[in-house]
Amino acid sequence: MRYLPPNFSLYARLLLLVVPLFLVVLSFRLYPPRSGNSPVSSASVAGFSADARRLFLNGSASANTTISYHLRNLTLSPHLAGTPSGAAAFDYVRSGLGLPGLETHTDEYSPLLSYPGVASLDLLRPDGSLIKSLSLSEPADPAVRSVLPYHAYSPSGVAIAPAVYVNLGRDEDYLALERLGVDVRGLVAVIRRGGGPRGTVVEAAAVRGAKAVLMFRSNESGGGEWGNVLLGGSVDPLTPGWAAEADAERLPIEDGRVKSRFPRIPSMPVSASTAAEILGSLGGPLAPPEWIAEAPAVVGVGGGPTIVNFTYLEDRKLAVVRNIISVIKGCEEPDRYVILGNHRDAWTYGAVDPNSGTAVLLDIAARYATLLGAGWRPKRTIILCSWDAEEFGMIGSTEWVEQNLRNIGSKAIAYLNLDCAVQGGGFFVSATPQLDKLLVETMKQVEDPDIKGVSLYETWVSKKGGNSIERLSRADSDFTPFLHHAGVPATDIYFGEDFPFYHTSLDSYEWMAKHGDPLFRRHVTASEVLGLLALSLADDRVLPFDFLSYSNQLLEHADTLSALLDGSEAVELIRASILELAAAAKEVEELKKLDEHDTDEVASSLRLRALNDRLMLAERAFLETEGLTGRPWFKHMLYSPPKDSFSKLSFFPGIADAIYEAKSSNPEGQAKINHEICRVARVIRRAADVLRGDLT
Ligand SMILES: *[C@@H]1O[C@H](CO)[C@@H](O)[C@H](O)[C@H]1NC(C)=O
Ligand SMILES: *[C@@H]1O[C@H](CO)[C@@H](O)[C@H](O)[C@H]1NC(C)=O
Ligand SMILES: *[C@@H]1O[C@H](CO)[C@@H](O)[C@H](O)[C@H]1NC(C)=O
Ligand SMILES: *[C@@H]1O[C@H](CO)[C@@H](O)[C@H](O)[C@H]1NC(C)=O
Ligand SMILES: *[C@@H]1O[C@H](CO)[C@@H](O)[C@H](O)[C@H]1NC(C)=O
Repeated sequence: MRYLPPNFSLYARLLLLVVPLFLVVLSFRLYPPRSGNSPVSSASVAGFSADARRLFLNGSASANTTISYHLRNLTLSPHLAGTPSGAAAFDYVRSGLGLPGLETHTDEYSPLLSYPGVASLDLLRPDGSLIKSLSLSEPADPAVRSVLPYHAYSPSGVAIAPAVYVNLGRDEDYLALERLGVDVRGLVAVIRRGGGPRGTVVEAAAVRGAKAVLMFRSNESGGGEWGNVLLGGSVDPLTPGWAAEADAERLPIEDGRVKSRFPRIPSMPVSASTAAEILGSLGGPLAPPEWIAEAPAVVGVGGGPTIVNFTYLEDRKLAVVRNIISVIKGCEEPDRYVILGNHRDAWTYGAVDPNSGTAVLLDIAARYATLLGAGWRPKRTIILCSWDAEEFGMIGSTEWVEQNLRNIGSKAIAYLNLDCAVQGGGFFVSATPQLDKLLVETMKQVEDPDIKGVSLYETWVSKKGGNSIERLSRADSDFTPFLHHAGVPATDIYFGEDFPFYHTSLDSYEWMAKHGDPLFRRHVTASEVLGLLALSLADDRVLPFDFLSYSNQLLEHADTLSALLDGSEAVELIRASILELAAAAKEVEELKKLDEHDTDEVASSLRLRALNDRLMLAERAFLETEGLTGRPWFKHMLYSPPKDSFSKLSFFPGIADAIYEAKSSNPEGQAKINHEICRVARVIRRAADVLRGDLT
């Protein structure tokens, strides 16, 4: 429902709602949509689209209760990917998507997953005698003790060595230790979370000679943070670039490409209190004050004199994971896909991560089923996906994208992601820039869940600290294979900036119902935003893509880059290519207007299809076949993740990597930066060509 002022009388609201809906329902019964490829008259489709949106929003009335039931049912027990505990959540989602009009199937894969075997942690005196056995990051909730908090893909190992505190484990933290005269070689590094992806932090400690890593979060009371330490992004280690079907070719485990995916030393999450026991026992030079602020137990950084005895046995094996794919066939362009997805697997109960998203996805599915019942069919195909094994490195979605790469590459309009859909208040949006305008328009049509009478857009736009739409160069959810590998435009939306019990056993329904979203209204709003986005992408005559926002965003990126490189001439190459993209974007905007006045139906629908293809495929032009230097799976030259998670560039990852490497006094550094700049300029020019629609 278009957002109405609060003083609008209930009666008038109902009338506004019910009368057109009644007419819509009636007209659909009279004119059932034709199936197949025959174009439906554009006038009726345009009107239909608005009615479909209204009918979709009518589903909000009781949605908060339904969503709370879904979340309750999904989080009754932990559901770790590849284990029997995942079966209940699988069955629940499978049946939740088994609605009339939705064709639902399951895709199975057997990737390499990693589980904890035996682990122990003792604190010893310098003479090797036992001070005490430390609890290994015991989950705060006894019901999940069957699976210890662990680092998936950590290798097995034994480390009996003095401990040392390394703060966040970043380059500068090792430099600070060096200044204190402390070398981590041969020691067990105790590291606080926040220094970048877990795997990168562990491997950085390994490179410096540490024997093992124990990782904790300050002020954390959830009992240890689960997570994976896989290196080199997502992708099943044994089937990089192709799907991990049961009978697929697999790289041997001893292959260098496989080995390079795992840190060389074992690691383990520990609770803040276990970390405090170790840190409080350390001598050595005094820790810098800012290190102590977040870890008050610390006095000296070590190493030693106390010794830890850490042993870990990994259980690494092929395990079956299952995606659920639910298809609503488009009636005009069944071969154009609007894809919505969210993962289902969780480290523990997963109320926030990811089942707030799953509950929303199930609600969207039910609302689409209601629309289908009223005679609506989307023009383009809508696909709802429930991914498995995201926590192990976006594995379920990645295997599916790899398996369907060419179809997705030629037919996918956009991928709309949900993950931690609700973890508190305040709305956050990330997207590729051609979707900015659609996102803003959509936010204007829904009410803020926390402030009656105000649109979501109004609160978002006036948010302290800015209202910018974030770009998707992080690789922390299932949009990664779609955008970074396949070049599909993508969005990721969520409520709440962060979440105190992220990846702990306290990520439960009780927390959500008490703190995260007590009335489940934020969930409903997430459902409205995502459901409406997909309706526009599936039903709008001209795809709602705006490439002028894209070129404007890229010009800002070019300015940032130029400032970072002290006004390097080479950046002008990028600016010139962006101007070409802007010119092509303007041409397309003109064409969009012309198209509205077309009368010849067949010619018009073919022209429309050609125009939409240009809009759909322009993002693909940002891919380079050979991928990023040294990281070939990442093909998107504008928005893949940079190697250095603290890079000042959250775009142009190839350039960011080259700058990072040039820092380590690489004599060819400048030439490499220039090469990467040329690559970025080339892909932008190619995108301009695709958008313009003609060969050079
Ligand atoms: C709109 O929602 C109300 C309340 O949930 C429901 O009773 C009604 O049937 C819905 N209208 C249509 C046309 O589906
Ligand atoms: C989900 O939970 C609700 C209430 O907790 C219950 O009434 C309902 O039957 C459950 N649904 C399924 C399919 O289990
Ligand atoms: C975390 O602990 C530090 C040090 O005790 C304290 O200053 C800070 O306020 C705490 N943060 C939270 C979120 O509790
Ligand atoms: C270290 O721990 C392992 C496993 O608990 C134990 O077998 C071993 O004896 C311990 N070593 C020392 C030196 O305490
Ligand atoms: C749904 O919202 C209504 C009204 O806003 C509220 O009374 C109800 O308690 C909510 N349901 C749940 C499960 O929070």
